[in-house]
Amino acid sequence: MTRDGQPASGSTGMWGGRFASAADPLFRAVNDSLPVDWRLVEADILGSRAWAGALARAGVLTHDEAARLHTALDAVLEEARARSSPPTESGAEDVHSWVEQRLIAIVGPLGKKLHTGRSRNDQVATDLRLWLREALDARIAELRALQRALVALAQRHAADHVLPGYTHLQRAQPVLLGHWCLAYVDMLERDIGRFADARLRGNQCPLGCAALAGTAYPVDRHALAAELGFDAPAANSLDAVSDRDGVLEVLASASICAMHLSRLAEELILYATDEFGFIRLEDAMTSGSSLMPQKKNPDALELLRGKAGGFLGAFVALLATMKGLPLAYNKDMQEDKAPLFRAMDELSLCLLVGTRVLAGVTFDPNRCREAARGGHANATDLADYLVERGVPFRDAHEHVGRLVRLAIERGVTLEALPIEVMRSVCPEIGPDVAAHLSLEAGLARRNAYGGTSVERVSAALAEAHARLEAAGP
Ligand code: ARG
Repeated sequence: MTRDGQPASGSTGMWGGRFASAADPLFRAVNDSLPVDWRLVEADILGSRAWAGALARAGVLTHDEAARLHTALDAVLEEARARSSPPTESGAEDVHSWVEQRLIAIVGPLGKKLHTGRSRNDQVATDLRLWLREALDARIAELRALQRALVALAQRHAADHVLPGYTHLQRAQPVLLGHWCLAYVDMLERDIGRFADARLRGNQCPLGCAALAGTAYPVDRHALAAELGFDAPAANSLDAVSDRDGVLEVLASASICAMHLSRLAEELILYATDEFGFIRLEDAMTSGSSLMPQKKNPDALELLRGKAGGFLGAFVALLATMKGLPLAYNKDMQEDKAPLFRAMDELSLCLLVGTRVLAGVTFDPNRCREAARGGHANATDLADYLVERGVPFRDAHEHVGRLVRLAIERGVTLEALPIEVMRSVCPEIGPDVAAHLSLEAGLARRNAYGGTSVERVSAALAEAHARLEAAGP
């Protein structure tokens, strides 16, 4: 600022006294962050309002001054909300200086008192945490919506709708569609847990830590933290202004969540192929080919799969930026915001798209059942049948392996092998074997907790449904 409070031309705006010349345009190009950190404007104003109150309670400002600052900050907030793009024409270096600039323009010299005992270092750390809190709440709500879409997908198909379950992408054992849906519900529940953890750990207030050593004014940081909805003030000023763990945790958690979405997307992509033919995707969420008239491509799902890489990139980028930084604040840390904002926007889009695609997915019961019956996926059931008749499991495995080979040679299913053939390999096999090998019997036997019997899956679905209802919209 110059003496009359106007921003100096070129930006030495906030520290003009010490500098003889204005900033070089190239310096400004690398240094200014307003276009990126503009998204923190509401959080910055919220924090500034609370700081004005804290200064008044500390006797640094009069209550009347704090009230005037509050009114002016409300006007700045309105002005910010009315804008459709960052106010780059203001010449402000970052969002914090823009708010201060507008405040001074509205209330005059009193506006210059607000920065007493505060630094942009504790300010930006506080703004980020306030912003993240809201972003995490929004992502958690979107994750719940995706979980609801998975439960709804299971519920609009029959309770005994069966799919082949795979290991190594080879048919392994049949599983219920509901079981498959709930596998993803559980993954997403862990994602919600990671976001909730990050929110909890990050809910400590850096404001009042000033530049690095703590504020020199008798501010009640506990009251300030409570006013801003934090659980406590951050305990160490050096750490608080230089800690970006919360951002890193969120980027790591977002990467894991995006990995889950990519797995879901990949399975749906496979299931939508003619080769699998398990599902139909709604036209509105697919695209055609400019050349091949018959094509219906799962582009939205491919993008869900493909975007997972970007989240990991954002996490690795910031982790590498933070590595080796000495205490306390360093400008390197300004590079946290672009990857964070982008990751949160992308994750929101992916969660909405995933939810929307699932709403239009229909599984073909006949095709799925036929596939679940194939691949000798009841071989384990035959081994279990022999175990029930006293054959040790390892021997049973060996006998059944021989029978599978015979069935493959004859091009039939295991249960279609003549009983004499079965008995020639394993005399313990009796005429009741066919009933034991049916799809229904195999599913029903998997009735231990966590298994894929109709009874277990129906109970798990009902429980998930109730839990999601109780979690609210
Ligand atoms: N734009 C900065 C950032 O995002 C704000 C903090 C600036 N602090 C400073 N000492 N230059 O990190």
